[in-house]
Amino acid sequence: MRTKPARAVKTSKPARKPVAKAATKATAVVKAKAGRPTPSHNGTTNGHAPKPARAGVAVKHSTYATFATTHEFLTAQKPIIYVNGMMVPKAHAMVSVYDHGLLYGDGVFEGIRIYNGKIFKCGQHMERLWRCAEMIRLRIPVSREEMVQVMRDCIDANSIDNGYIRLIVSRGAGNLGLDPRKCPTAGVICIADQISLYPKEFYQTGMRIIVAKRPRTPIECLDPRIKSLNYLNNILGKVEAIDHGCDEAIMLNLDGYVGECTGDNIFVIKNGKVFTPPTESGILEGITRRFVMDLCADEGIACNVKAMRPDEVKGADEVFLTGTAAEIIAVSQIDDSKIGTGAEGPVTKRLREAFRRVVTGQHVPED
Ligand SMILES: Cc1ncc(COP(=O)(O)O)c(C=O)c1O
Repeated sequence: MRTKPARAVKTSKPARKPVAKAATKATAVVKAKAGRPTPSHNGTTNGHAPKPARAGVAVKHSTYATFATTHEFLTAQKPIIYVNGMMVPKAHAMVSVYDHGLLYGDGVFEGIRIYNGKIFKCGQHMERLWRCAEMIRLRIPVSREEMVQVMRDCIDANSIDNGYIRLIVSRGAGNLGLDPRKCPTAGVICIADQISLYPKEFYQTGMRIIVAKRPRTPIECLDPRIKSLNYLNNILGKVEAIDHGCDEAIMLNLDGYVGECTGDNIFVIKNGKVFTPPTESGILEGITRRFVMDLCADEGIACNVKAMRPDEVKGADEVFLTGTAAEIIAVSQIDDSKIGTGAEGPVTKRLREAFRRVVTGQHVPED
């Protein structure tokens, strides 16, 4: 994080309304301790045009009484979050309880890294977000350019140099039925914050994982390529991992082939060659996965996609996981099988260092 004081709310060209105006509204909402803008089920709060707090709503001044100005209040409430056209402090960033993202997990999202103030692989994340939205017939209510501007505004508003963006497009507020046609406007949320998935020492020692008993949802039922808000299958895999005292689990498809982990893709190294499961095994096509495949090419390391059984993975020389949040992390043990020497292997180390060089360099790729 930079040390310079943050601007509380910055202009967001794309937002439906001029950001200065959005800021004014956000302020109004904050003052009414609103974050409670009386969300209605007709989509009002999700339509990028939330009503300012109504007269007569009880105002609790104690919330911000200790701050001399609204600016001070906002900067003390970081991160400032973009919610449906407004920039609001974390404590007041809310959506309707009728939002189908909440009611049904109906929506899509992206996790994106900020390195050196740049949005890492921004183009690919936008591509995937729009593709996933299309796959669930969800119309994103802003253009790609506007979405990128929203992200830059959030980075700016929170003075982030290195961090993480969570971008969410939910179906929006509807009624209590499933019907997406009852949700007139999709909701857009952008959170720019920090993330640290695993303890730092795991990046040197490697992490212990298990093979989950629960299979990954089959492609025919819910294609894992869709990065949807419905992660219950993955969470159940994660719960199994936690029950076994570790943080990750490999998930198999119904045919018993390795797909991916609950929140990461998986790579295997055997005799100096790198392998990763194909899309057909049922995986999210990770942006870090693709980047690591490119890194392999740059480093002159052979990398191929290959369907693999758990025993092949357990018998590998090295195994590592990739993901936006996890970056590149070695696996030291799967179930009772030690992987290689039980520490980060040389190929994993080489790729992890190559990755770090790119993301700490002057030319962080935004493509
Ligand atoms: C299930 C799953 N697989 C793989 C990944 C890695 O994808 P990416 O590298 O795009 O972050 C994620 C990341 O969130 C994930 O949730």
